[in-house]
Amino acid sequence: MRHPTWMRVIVHSAGLFPLTLIGISVLRGSLSVNPIQDIEQRFGRTAFYFLVATLACRPLSTVFGWYALLRYRRTLGLYSFFYASLHFFVFAGLDYGFNLPEIGKLITEKPFILLGLLSGSILLALAITSFDWWKKKLRRKWTYLHRLVYLAGLMTVVHYGWAKKGDLFNLRGDILYPVLWGIMIVILLIMRIPMMRKFTSNLRYISNKYR
Ligand code: HEM
Repeated sequence: MRHPTWMRVIVHSAGLFPLTLIGISVLRGSLSVNPIQDIEQRFGRTAFYFLVATLACRPLSTVFGWYALLRYRRTLGLYSFFYASLHFFVFAGLDYGFNLPEIGKLITEKPFILLGLLSGSILLALAITSFDWWKKKLRRKWTYLHRLVYLAGLMTVVHYGWAKKGDLFNLRGDILYPVLWGIMIVILLIMRIPMMRKFTSNLRYISNKYR
């Protein structure tokens, strides 16, 4: 089924909005004192938000009956991959000039980068196989492969929290947001369990019946 034009406009505007904002900050010179790190972090956070939005489509459609959302899952996922790629290129290219020995050394010092790379590799595999040709070719295996998006979500939230170097037992500083996002991802995961899906769609059915 073709997607309504206005919905596509909204989704792509939302997808390109963060890039525009970052571009404006670069042109106005209003980035932080460490501009490369600032851009890298902004791309990372944007990739993460689009990943969470992708994960939320199925549960939201089950709970509220917004099935139209499912049509935009692929686009949202591709935006997450797009921003994750920019995040990676700013890190590896702009920050480290693709100096592989230096990057390898950094990974041994900061293992959270390895988690980012693993999560990024999952997003790459999912982006490549997100097209209908692969769906037809892989059939059931496609469904299993694309469930890895939840693993990518969990790994990214740990990557995010670890990058903030916060104190887990002092839930006030920078670590607070990654922890809250982590809780959100776990809730979204729980809502994927078939029993929970059945329960929420039954609830919706009952509330619609007595409205
Ligand atoms: C592809 C391989 C990846 C590499 C090499 C990588 C590397 C990094 C590095 C070095 C940082 C710390 C930046 C700093 O504070 O100086 C970071 C932070 C972060 N990364 Fe990644 N990352 C990768 C993948 C991802 C992916 C796939 C996502 C999201 C889907 C992501 C989201 C984030 C977030 C949210 C932060 C924290 C940003 C902040 O401080 O506000 N990263 N990453």
